[in-house]
Parts: sequence; structure tokens; C-alpha cells
Amino acid sequence: MSELSRRKVLISGGVLGAFGALGIGSPARAVPWTWPSSGSIAGSGSGEDPRWVWDDLADPVSRALLESGDVPEVNRLLWDWNRNDQPLPGGLPAYVRDFIEEARRLPSWADRTKLERAAEFNKSRGIYLNLLNGVGGGMLSTAIPKEARAVYYSKGGADMEDRVAKTSILGFAVGALNAYRPDGDCIVQAVKTRLVHAAVRHLLQQSPHWTGGIPISQEDILVTWHTLPTYAMRAMRDWRVPISAADSQAYLHVWQVTAHLLGVRDEYIPATWAAANAQSDQVLPPNMGPTPEGVILTDILLGQLAEQTSPASISRPLCNALARYLVGPQVAGWDEIPREPVWEALIATAWPALVKFREGLIPLPLVPESAWVIDEAVRRYILFYLTKGRETKIEIPTINRPE
Ligand code: HEM
Repeated sequence: MSELSRRKVLISGGVLGAFGALGIGSPARAVPWTWPSSGSIAGSGSGEDPRWVWDDLADPVSRALLESGDVPEVNRLLWDWNRNDQPLPGGLPAYVRDFIEEARRLPSWADRTKLERAAEFNKSRGIYLNLLNGVGGGMLSTAIPKEARAVYYSKGGADMEDRVAKTSILGFAVGALNAYRPDGDCIVQAVKTRLVHAAVRHLLQQSPHWTGGIPISQEDILVTWHTLPTYAMRAMRDWRVPISAADSQAYLHVWQVTAHLLGVRDEYIPATWAAANAQSDQVLPPNMGPTPEGVILTDILLGQLAEQTSPASISRPLCNALARYLVGPQVAGWDEIPREPVWEALIATAWPALVKFREGLIPLPLVPESAWVIDEAVRRYILFYLTKGRETKIEIPTINRPE
């Protein structure tokens, strides 16, 4: 199928839709890296396959911290390091300080005007983005075998509520109005996450359950990245959310900067949406599929979602149906999200109507009454995570999942 007709199928099949079509028949299969670095922020590159590239700067830092036993003290010192413009606390080992000072610098290509615009966009489209990146991204990540297994066998896998709350800290930081302003915290959360990932690379290899080599390669991070902005943009387009070219560029930009701060090399960060979509189409299909760990994590996540969004009117079946709607039938099948024919039919008509109403495209009387149950579920979910995220902080782990 030509690229054009393939894209048409993806668009008409619905976003997820899009993810359904992406993975057909080819879960977890390695393919050669052919994405051209000419489409990257750097404009050129080494041509190295990102499957075999990790994080040259952060990995030795977290390894040294784990080996020296200094992680708890460094976590303690970094607990109150919260703002982008905040000087580092005294007392950090010199190599940690040097790493963070380097890692916290915005790339030379970061564009303040675009970042400000992205912040406004994140605000105006917050409900869609939180739903897509929170529920949708969560369900997609459990259908990425390497990620599902990494999460399951690392420390946070044993306490998914805390783990989700911690992950949402970065999600909300990216979406905040002051994300990359001096008083925001996106730089801090991304740099802390980079150290967490580096620690996981070291720790997981010691887990008796881990058989996958060094985890969290640059390719793995790109895969997850595409389940966030690329997926969200495709979904919003699919829902016919009006988005100006400037807004879409700005939204891509905030995620490009975030990828850089997470340690992704500029030669792998897509420069345009066209390049991002092409990279997504290349890296997602071979990296998605079912795992027993993914099924368990999905069940836990949906159980939490249902709990948070109670009263009883917003039930687990509704959460199942919403998740199925967001990820499409193939991923839903991999994740073993139960079928909910009644709710699924309702969401399929009610959600597009809600979007149209919110975008001022149809008047209130045309929104079915039942749609507000979904609207309420989404709001409660977002509120819950906003609150949860405030109760905890991102910390470098010292152990894998306790046996
Ligand atoms: C931890 C975000 C990619 C595996 C975290 C945390 C954040 C985060 C915010 C800190 C929360 C915590 O400590 O629990 C992201 C983002 C990614 C990405 C934005 C890509 C754009 C990946 C990938 C993998 C992965 C590709 C595995 C293949 C993990 C694990 C932990 C973690 C195992 C936590 C370990 C623990 O529970 O101790 N990630 N991540 N992440 N991430 Fe990622």
C-alpha cells in the first residue's frame, strides 16, 4: 500500500483506528532503522540504530550513585529542588551536580515563543490532552512489551498508584502554563526522570525476571514519545478538533524540548509532524504487542480509574469502554480490556458530540444527555491525578520490584 493510501486508511479508521492498523500481525519484531536523520532536529546524524543507544551522560551517574549507596541522600537533597530556575542544593556529589547543570540547559533550538504558545494550547485543549496522554497513553504503554515488563519488574510496578501519580508529575509539568518558564518545573521533572531511567537501566539487569538486555534504549523512549504527542495529535485530528498550524507546531515543539531533556539525541527527535508520523509508523508496530505483564498492569490501571471516577454511575464498564475507544480494538485486545457493547456504542456517538459542542460547532441541545456522564468521568479523572501528583515526587529508585 502506498504511504498516501495507508495514511488515508489510518485517518478514516479513526485514531485508534490508527493504532489498530499499525500493529497488524507484527507484534514485537525487530526491523532495521531506516528513519532518515535529515528529518530530525539535528538535520543529520550518525546513522546509529537507536535500539543500541542509551544515555551516555546519565547512565554512568546513576550507576555510580547506586554503587556508592548515595541515592537516598541525593534523593533527600533533590526533594526540594522544584523550580526550573532554582539553584541546586549544596552537598550533591560533584559528578551529579555537573550532570544536572549540563542536563538542565535548554537546547539552543528551544524557542520561547513556541513554548509559550504550546502552554496556551495545552490549556485550551487540556481536557483532550489529559484524557489522551493519561488514559490513552497509559493503555498504549501497557501494550509495549518492553515497557510493560520494565514497569512491572521495577520498583514502581508493585505500587501502581504511586507509580502513576509519579508519572503524571511530568505529564502535568509539560502541560502547565509555566512549563518552561523560570517558575515552572518541567526541566526539573524531566532531568529527574532521566536519572530514574538511567537507574532502571542499571537495576533491571539485576532482576531475575528481566531478560531483555539493557532497557530503555533511545528507540524505546521514542516509541513511548509517539504514544504521547504523536498519538494525541492524530486523535485530535481524528476528532476534528480545529487546530491552527501555529498551535500544532508549538505543541510539537514543547515535546521536542521534552524529548531532549529526557536525554534523546537531537538526531532522533523529529523536526516536523511529517517526520514524527513517519518515525511513529516505523517504530511502533514492531514494538507493540501483548504480554501477561501488560494485561495485569492494564487491569490495575482501569481498576484505579474506575475507583477514582466513582460514584457508581461512572463504573468500571464505562472506564473499559472509554479505554477501548481511545486505543482501538487491536490494542484493547492485547491489553484484554473487556468488551462493553452498551457503553462502547454510547461513547462512539456521545464523545464526538461533546467535542463538537466544546469547539462551538454544535449547540447544547444536540449533545445527548448521556454524554455528560462521560464528560464527568473525564473531569474527575483529571482532577484526581492533578491532586495525586501533588502528593509525591520523582525519586531515583534503589531496588527493583520487591519479590
Ligand atoms: C519512570 C516518563 C519512557 C520505564 C518514569 C518517570 C517518568 C517517566 C515521569 C518517573 C516516575 C517514577 O519514578 O515512577 C517517561 C516518559 C517517557 C518514558 C515521558 C518517554 C517519552 C520510558 C520507557 C520505559 C520506561 C521507554 C521502558 C521501556 C520506566 C520505568 C520507570 C520510569 C521502569 C520507573 C521505575 C520505578 O518504578 O522505580 N518514566 N518515561 N520509561 N520509566 Fe519512563
